[in-house]
Amino acid sequence: MKKTVITCICLAAFCAVAIAAIYDESNFSAGGRMFQPAPTGHEVGKDNGSGRGIHHPSEDCGRCHRVGGRAEHYLWTMSGTLYNDRSGRSVLTGGEILMEDRDGNVISLTSNRSGNFWTTVPIASDPYTVSNYHGHEPFVPMYVEDDEGNLIEPADPENPKTWHYKTWLRKGNMVRTMMTIGGVGGSPVYNRMTCNMHHGGVAHRSGALWVGKKPTLPGYPDSELSYRKHIYPILRSNCAPCHIPGKTRTSVNTKTDLPEFGATATCIDYSGGLDLMIYEGSSVEVPKLDPDGMPSGTEIISKIGVTDVVDSNDPANSLLLRKTIFNGEEHGGGSFWKKRSPDYLALKQWIREGALEN
Ligand code: HEC
Ligand code: HEC
Repeated sequence: MKKTVITCICLAAFCAVAIAAIYDESNFSAGGRMFQPAPTGHEVGKDNGSGRGIHHPSEDCGRCHRVGGRAEHYLWTMSGTLYNDRSGRSVLTGGEILMEDRDGNVISLTSNRSGNFWTTVPIASDPYTVSNYHGHEPFVPMYVEDDEGNLIEPADPENPKTWHYKTWLRKGNMVRTMMTIGGVGGSPVYNRMTCNMHHGGVAHRSGALWVGKKPTLPGYPDSELSYRKHIYPILRSNCAPCHIPGKTRTSVNTKTDLPEFGATATCIDYSGGLDLMIYEGSSVEVPKLDPDGMPSGTEIISKIGVTDVVDSNDPANSLLLRKTIFNGEEHGGGSFWKKRSPDYLALKQWIREGALEN
């Protein structure tokens, strides 16, 4: 008993050190910020844009709010709609959209009654930004250097692709960490919130920006849970943005990503080799990129699947649940549910029943 207490204290001390890490240019990488907790101590909603903004929820605000668009007098640096669930069934009012940019500025927005949010605050830009193709290599410098490597012309700070930040969504004590910390998508004239909007499609949507505790399905039976009918949709909706190896890479697209700096220096695959869209682990052939980031043949990668992270003899102790329960093990994806949440209970029951591919 005593031993456990001591271990807990040590763990807590270790976590405190990890949390106290100061994030700056040197560790502003996808890996460096993986476990960074959401910032606190700021005034919530301090950066909300002015106006009512209740129209066109879920639409791409930048379609009209851009230079040359129908609402070009109102240009936002960031805008969008927040939902209760990833499939975007209902909007979330009073959720917080948090960003911490490369300079350490915390930006806090709240969603209004349409779930909408928008702001005009500047987002710090990285002078050494490299652009890429839709989140993937090859990387091309957006800045100009002389032969000695001195910066002659920084990347255009007006271009949203140079804005580097990490994002969290919060509602009460529920927090969703977003996987991408660089500006993906959008265009030189308007930006788009990245991450879950961008990866792992649900039906025709690419997945809404969401935080909340609504169950994935309206209800679950008490027993005879089905992998296909109940479990897969839960994993698809909550975990797919990060857990499809090879498809869930994220990077900050900076100078060190160029081949001469070892390529993909800030690029990591958030999945940790765990594919939650497959029942069993497997080896797969994926396209390979040469050091310049051009496609060159294929390579075989092996990945683990759902059965590798469940334990039918001790369901609650399954890695899949320990990583995702509120106040559980530290997890790059954050926590998703409490012990009484319907999704959690469904997963646990299915594991208890043998985690069948039924
Ligand atoms: C189909 C085009 C279109 C889309 C999409 C759109 N807007 Fe607008 N928006 C407009 C127009 C037009 C105006 C009025 C512009 C003017 O008066 O010059 C406007 C004005 C606004 C205003 C200021 C007026 C007010 O309501 O107080 C806000 C705030 C706003 N929009 C927010 C948003 C947000 C947030 C989104 C995305 C969720 C969005 N808009 C999507 C067309 C659009
Ligand atoms: C925002 C990205 C993100 C989301 C969403 C996410 N994860 Fe993760 N997950 C990670 C990262 C990063 C790691 C590797 C670091 C770690 O162990 O936490 C990880 C690791 C794991 C591991 C440990 C794998 C191992 O072999 O050590 C499990 C289990 C896991 N996640 C389960 C889940 C489940 C279940 C969901 C959905 C309910 C989920 N994750 C959603 C980012 C995410």
